Amino acid sequence: MAVEEGYLDRVLTMEVGRCTEAAAIAASKMIGRGDKEGADQAAVTALREAFNKLEMEGTVVIGEGERDEAPMLYIGEKVGSGKGPKIDIALDPLEGTTLTAKAMSNALAVVAMAQGGTLLHSPDVYMDKIACGPGYREGVIDLDAPIEENIAALAKEKGEPASEITLCILDRDRHQHLIDGARKMGARVFLIPDGDVAGVFHTTEASTGIDLYVGRGGAPEGVLAAAALRCVGGQMQGRLHFRNDEERGRAERAGIADLDRKYNLRDLASGDVIFAATGVTNGTMLDGVKWEPGYVNTHTVVMRSKTGTVRYIRAKTRR
Ligand code: FBP
Repeated sequence: MAVEEGYLDRVLTMEVGRCTEAAAIAASKMIGRGDKEGADQAAVTALREAFNKLEMEGTVVIGEGERDEAPMLYIGEKVGSGKGPKIDIALDPLEGTTLTAKAMSNALAVVAMAQGGTLLHSPDVYMDKIACGPGYREGVIDLDAPIEENIAALAKEKGEPASEITLCILDRDRHQHLIDGARKMGARVFLIPDGDVAGVFHTTEASTGIDLYVGRGGAPEGVLAAAALRCVGGQMQGRLHFRNDEERGRAERAGIADLDRKYNLRDLASGDVIFAATGVTNGTMLDGVKWEPGYVNTHTVVMRSKTGTVRYIRAKTRR
């Protein structure tokens, strides 16, 4: 039988969800144990094992770190059977290691897959980010504009006062000026302890009530969030932030020439993208892993930019 065009990536879409399920299940055994490294390691091992069952020639482009610092799922590692489509993979086996160690909400296992060369090969440094959900005029938000201007622009587009705008911001001292600016405008601020892939993703789902994500978080998480936004719509801008020359060196080694570049959504993830996330702990959009005698229950979202399909999958797996 001839293989239908698109068959492989349709199959892969479902398989990616199996991979994040495996990572989330492994990490869930570490919830509340106060061991964030152990939780991450469990997710990494399970994700790598799951990837290696897939028919693909996968390359990790965003992973656990550079080869000399991460034994598994390091940047450049080849995963999959070595046969099948050439795929670039961005991953965070456990987004929210502290959230998991402390049994707090919104920890996820996250993977994005794309055609080779279409995801920004982001180094593990910080990124300044701004994002909003779909349905707004292109360019309504701007990373370089003061927070007050972004809130006012979004409120105008929504046809509502600034007091009806809700922002999501990582709870860090470095964001105090953003929090103060937003509160001065009368806007609501939803502070999160960790987990800005989920934070950005919240802007795409009306039920979360979050209109705008702003602040500095991990750059790899920025690319993963951009991959999610590519599937469901929305706007995002980001710029890498370096604390020292060692971090600038990492960017240069990753092939980034313009270190001050302001990236748009399509600069972060330009091609067709598959995105999957499975809840580890309970979250606003995904339930966490639940164990019961003989079974484990998972909640996963799988999305594809080519079709815009968003699938929520509840799986009950025998254990
Ligand atoms: P971990 O999964 O490594 O715990 O990272 C969680 C996270 O909150 C990310 O979502 C976010 O991008 C980054 O850490 C923020 O970094 P920092 O804690 O240094 O502010």
